[in-house]
Amino acid sequence: MGYYDLNGERASRMAEQYGGTAYGALEELLEDPQIDAVSVCTANNTHAAVTIRALEAGKHVLCEKPMAVTIGECERMVEAARKNNRRLMIGMNQRFAGAHVKAKELISQGAIGKILTFRTAFGHSGPENWSVDAGNGSWFFDRERAVMGVMADLGVHKTDLIQFLTGGCVTEVTARLVTLDKKDPSGTPIAVDDNAFCIYRMNNGITGTMTASWTYCGEEDNSTVLYGTEGIMKIYHSPEHSIEIIDRSGGRKFLDIGRIQTNDRQTNSGVIDEFIDALEQNREPPSAAAMYWRPCGPCLPPPRPRRRGERWRFWRMSEWGWNVSFVFSKLNES
Ligand SMILES: NC(=O)c1ccc[n+]([C@@H]2O[C@H](COP(=O)([O-])OP(=O)(O)OC[C@H]3O[C@@H](n4cnc5c(N)ncnc54)[C@H](O)[C@@H]3O)[C@@H](O)[C@H]2O)c1
Repeated sequence: MGYYDLNGERASRMAEQYGGTAYGALEELLEDPQIDAVSVCTANNTHAAVTIRALEAGKHVLCEKPMAVTIGECERMVEAARKNNRRLMIGMNQRFAGAHVKAKELISQGAIGKILTFRTAFGHSGPENWSVDAGNGSWFFDRERAVMGVMADLGVHKTDLIQFLTGGCVTEVTARLVTLDKKDPSGTPIAVDDNAFCIYRMNNGITGTMTASWTYCGEEDNSTVLYGTEGIMKIYHSPEHSIEIIDRSGGRKFLDIGRIQTNDRQTNSGVIDEFIDALEQNREPPSAAAMYWRPCGPCLPPPRPRRRGERWRFWRMSEWGWNVSFVFSKLNES
């Protein structure tokens, strides 16, 4: 086992705490034949480069979300995994949360009939409150290193989740990405989004909303509500129950499978276990990049630099029929 971090002290601390080697350079880690697999958990803008280097060095890779920051990077990562015959998994841990696994099973058994609409949300008070570099100078607020804001941090999770739960693929997006409150150390509004409001239409006809926020203070929201022809399913919607099912006549059923982890209450996300199991069993891991990246594409940023207030529609990857419309707006701009 080993660690590499641009900040060498952090790698050394990890080695002291968990055992293993702290490497002075990424190449040293990648050249070590004892290392079979690499977990890439660096800033967003480096995911693709580090992942591709590791794959080229013959390592399997678990890459954190967002998978990358452009469609081209995603393509190159998938190609590097294919060419080097290595596994590449993306850390979409919402899929492994107990109530999400159970909800998927119940949905497939018709617990609420055919799903028509949904609303899903992920919000907390912002990464500057818990990142290792806490404070407004956090890389999460820096457009160069983060590239996207809350959409990359939280939006990608719920975008993946809704596709996982419904078995569909987002093909049409109308979104407004805004910077409402977060400021950089100079007091200027950050150049990435701190709130994202999206309407998703899926290839199975389901339409719903996904919101992601860094300005929900006091309590996290990690909830999903699915509206079907036979009832409603609420997941992680109240602290009391993991899943609540309401039938057409108002009857309620509750399932208690524990609470989802929060920034303050970290539990095992299941991602590492799934990755290791897949490697040991020589099979594709869940959220394998080759399957994952196209459906996640609609929430990657547009192919050119964003200008605030700019409005556009763009179409990409015609075989998936994406039809994406994003609006980025200035602080307090209506
Ligand atoms: N799946 C999840 O739920 C989840 C949760 C948290 C973070 N993440 C993702 O993990 C990544 C890291 O987030 P974090 O909260 O741990 O950030 P962090 O700032 O707390 O830690 C990142 C670390 O990476 C190091 N680093 C940055 N660029 C590097 C590079 N090129 N080479 C080596 N080291 C580098 C930094 O020095 C720092 O120690 C982000 O992309 C984030 O989106 C995913």
